[in-house]
Amino acid sequence: MLTLRYRRDELMEDHDYAEPQVIAGRRMHGGFLADGSYQPPRTKVRGPAIDAWTKALRDRGGELFDADASLLDGVRLPNVAQQRVLLRNGLGETFWNNLTIIGKIEAKGRLLADITFPDLQDVIVEDISEMAIGHLNEGLLVAHGLDEGGLPDQGIGGHDEMWFVARDLAFGAGAHPDVDPPENIARPDDERRIPELRPEIEGLVSFLANLLLIEFRAELGFSETQAVLRTPDLWGARAEKADEAADIIGRIRTDEEIHVSSLRLYLGEIRACTFRTVDGGTISGAEVIDRFWHDLVRWAVVDKPALEADQQRRVLEERIRAHAEADRVLQEFDAAAA
Ligand SMILES: [Fe+2]
Ligand SMILES: [Fe+2]
Repeated sequence: MLTLRYRRDELMEDHDYAEPQVIAGRRMHGGFLADGSYQPPRTKVRGPAIDAWTKALRDRGGELFDADASLLDGVRLPNVAQQRVLLRNGLGETFWNNLTIIGKIEAKGRLLADITFPDLQDVIVEDISEMAIGHLNEGLLVAHGLDEGGLPDQGIGGHDEMWFVARDLAFGAGAHPDVDPPENIARPDDERRIPELRPEIEGLVSFLANLLLIEFRAELGFSETQAVLRTPDLWGARAEKADEAADIIGRIRTDEEIHVSSLRLYLGEIRACTFRTVDGGTISGAEVIDRFWHDLVRWAVVDKPALEADQQRRVLEERIRAHAEADRVLQEFDAAAA
């Protein structure tokens, strides 16, 4: 018998850690079991619950929402080789900024813990009380938000703090100035795609789809960051600390797995459900998602990366221009383009 209903406090439960995660004297979320393995926060019950809901969805003939490597497409600037050229030439600020900005974007993810989302049961024909989407406001999105932004008032760091600590291990605290994320490049069109649904329901579904794309694509950037940290000659005497920083990023990547699997599950469940429309009819969840997914993906993997690369290119050229051997560095930088 699968357990498919959970209380909020169950979904928030931590593993019984033998050791909490403490880095440089700061308490972070998650911890280590007696065998030394790292376990993400709030996954003791949430993990098996996601598995149980996934199995139930498959038993009903449904499937997790598809997310494959094609979602990772798009130009990336700088790539790992270019980042290495910059660091080798004493231009570490770009990578420092990268780590700071990721940390600050993670902090914004705490928003998920602070807002109440519309109840999908109001508009879904099927009983969702035994589905993950019936638990979004019952712990699932709070847990997700706390993974990103931590519990600062309890002195427990989440992903934001983990990035900052990793950065300071690699570079030394205060090696470069603090920096804020560039303004998010907003998608130019925000027209309603599913006027059959109340705006806040369309908003929730497209929010979840957007979040899946962001989380799925972030994974690639995180692994590239690890590759740079694990290039010992870039870090000289700090190589061991940079390696420890890469371990921290590895734990963030482990934490993120449940974000991707739960978002694929929510969207898979939504696809298999039927929505009540504002005019008293119905529309299938598959149609709801299909109507905006294609455009959303094109924006995330083609248009937005190109705009971001343009913006980056201007910043990087200016930074390289300030180098005493700017022409040589720029040449090396361009030669390292994939
Ligand atoms: Fe995160
Ligand atoms: Fe995440």
